[in-house]
Amino acid sequence: MIGPSFGSSTRQVRAGDSAARGHRPVAVPIHQTAAYEFDSWEHARDVFALRQKGDIYSRTGNPTQLVLEERLTALDDGVAALATGSGQAAVVVALLALARQGEHLVASSTLYGGTMDLLTDTFADFGIDTTLVDPLDLEAWRAAIRPNTRAFFAESFGNPTASVPDLCGIADIAHQAGVPFVVDNTVATPALLQVKEHGADIAVYSATKHLGGHGSSLAGAIVDLGTFDFGKQPQRWPQFTEPFSRVGDVVLWERFGQENSALLVYARTKLVHDLGPSLSPFNARDILMGIETLTVRLERISRTTAAVVHYLVQHPRVSRVHHPLAEAGAGRERAEHYLKHGWPGVLSFDVADEAAVPGVVDGLELFTLAANIGDVRSLVIHPSTTTHSHFTDEQLNRAGFSRSTIRLSIGLEDHEDLLADLDQALAEPPEPHGR
Ligand SMILES: Cc1ncc(COP(=O)(O)O)c(C=O)c1O
Repeated sequence: MIGPSFGSSTRQVRAGDSAARGHRPVAVPIHQTAAYEFDSWEHARDVFALRQKGDIYSRTGNPTQLVLEERLTALDDGVAALATGSGQAAVVVALLALARQGEHLVASSTLYGGTMDLLTDTFADFGIDTTLVDPLDLEAWRAAIRPNTRAFFAESFGNPTASVPDLCGIADIAHQAGVPFVVDNTVATPALLQVKEHGADIAVYSATKHLGGHGSSLAGAIVDLGTFDFGKQPQRWPQFTEPFSRVGDVVLWERFGQENSALLVYARTKLVHDLGPSLSPFNARDILMGIETLTVRLERISRTTAAVVHYLVQHPRVSRVHHPLAEAGAGRERAEHYLKHGWPGVLSFDVADEAAVPGVVDGLELFTLAANIGDVRSLVIHPSTTTHSHFTDEQLNRAGFSRSTIRLSIGLEDHEDLLADLDQALAEPPEPHGR
């Protein structure tokens, strides 16, 4: 007990031992600590050598974060998860764990702008080459494979185009080529789409979006679905199948294998440890709170999204709505096959006259103009002048949208209020009065 016999400075940092109280909190507590005390010299040595499980330092893990990781593992029926400080960090860490300098990735050409920048710019600087393919063209995925290809990457529900690729078809081609299929399931979430059932091996998330759902904290996650056998072609994956000098020359694949995710042990102990894209305990708790209402939120968001699509489709000033519900034929059937439990809240539409874009965006009063999706509040953005502002016309075309495209993210407001807001913003501006 730290009492008055200790100096004031000692008491300031030592008095009041929260661990000794033995509370049993119902809500997940925020473990706001940088480091953990070891029981002994031997315990510290063994935890560092991965011989024993244990908390070390919050850069590579924290009890609040571990609860989030367990929850995400359970939601996706995976074997392990690794939470990160942002969705971008999750994508970076997942792909760096698979592809190293001189290796190659095949990815969809209709990805979130930040992922496109990562693949085409920063990864190119690192000597990791990416071939971008039309996600709907299965032959293009097959044709892009090289001997040094190490992963396929696609989004399950495109942002901003709201398109759904043939996940099973892409997964089959990846597996024939002996590489894992990584799926960014951010927009759909595990509540609407179980990517493991459709051939994905690794799911990645920006938890900042629907998972957290309140637009308050950045976070990301990688979920190892436990389906890819890195031991089949060990020479391809020396990071898992050769001795790992960091931790006493342990061969991660032998020690952790598929069931205990050698992949994420490597990602955590090397990439997160060295690069530091860690999640704060506070943000981990914020995302956990969001997940607790995920299905309830998405049920309402899904209904409102359908109402907004139906409204926009019939509007004379709207030339195109980017959403499966606005399509007939294969695209819609595919989306309905994968998304049996409802629609996520992302869609976009083209105004017939590109010059009308600023008036429509600024005319919206309830939709907030902000570069985010998956908030409880409805949001709007004009991608070609913001999130995708450096895209050429050709790149925009390949990504499936244009300078006339406006993206909406649907929140929890009453749908009548959102439709009324769209209605007044899309109303024809009054004719200027002539003399
Ligand atoms: C589909 C998708 N993946 C990844 C990201 C990156 O996530 P974050 O902003 O949390 O870093 C985003 C961000 O908008 C996204 O929309």
